[in-house]
Amino acid sequence: MFANSRPVASPQSGPHARLAELVRRHLQHPFRRPVGAPSQRAFDTLAAALAGDPRPRVLDAGCGTGASTLQLARRHADAVVIGVDKSALRLATGQRALDAAGAPANARLLRCDLVDFWRLAAAAGWRFTTQYLLYPNPWPKPEHVQRRWPAHPVLPALLACGGALELRTNWKVYAEEWRVALSLAGRSWHIDCLDAQAGDALSPFEAKYRASAHVLWRVRAPDDPESGGS
Ligand SMILES: C[S@@+](CC[C@H](N)C(=O)[O-])C[C@H]1O[C@@H](n2cnc3c(N)ncnc32)[C@H](O)[C@@H]1O
Repeated sequence: MFANSRPVASPQSGPHARLAELVRRHLQHPFRRPVGAPSQRAFDTLAAALAGDPRPRVLDAGCGTGASTLQLARRHADAVVIGVDKSALRLATGQRALDAAGAPANARLLRCDLVDFWRLAAAAGWRFTTQYLLYPNPWPKPEHVQRRWPAHPVLPALLACGGALELRTNWKVYAEEWRVALSLAGRSWHIDCLDAQAGDALSPFEAKYRASAHVLWRVRAPDDPESGGS
């Protein structure tokens, strides 16, 4: 694959100066924005479909077309792998591909805003065994720091949904911001670089960044049963 994706450009060379203050505030104060009606409906439909299903749950947050959801469903064959994205267009493209490929029965795609999904899942007591966040939008402008998941008010709900976390990004600063947020939340973490030669890319963005020779960062936090729950 030929790709010429530009590396992330930002005046930030390290974690945002306000990050720690924002994370502490969000960890202490509940996020009160009402949940959108379409998100509630989408979540209720999924919850009804999964009611009584004893399988572990894995989340592919911001799954795009769901190509990674398909791979993760094969990797976690004993679990239900839920790919969530807010883009109807990407999900429709992905669903067609899943149908054509004979998608594994344990893969599900859901159109929902993650800001609502994490709060609904946490309130319903859901716990994922693993949450994957593959190449989320990094919002590199410093003034957009609160749009980044580690500095977003939804962070406590995301963490309450539990499980191991795996974040991948092509922006080192974003990986470092996750490290800061996880530390402040009392979670342990591990950062490394992905070996671009090892195995297939897990997602389309990963494939694009690999083909553009970007350094790819991975932050992993093992499950911490003490920090989750709702
Ligand atoms: C950079 S793309 C990465 C897609 C995929 N994970 C990959 O690695 O190929 C980020 C994705 O996150 C989705 N996204 C961003 N904000 C979201 C939100 N609040 N709720 C749900 N999806 C969101 C976008 O629609 C987009 O598909």
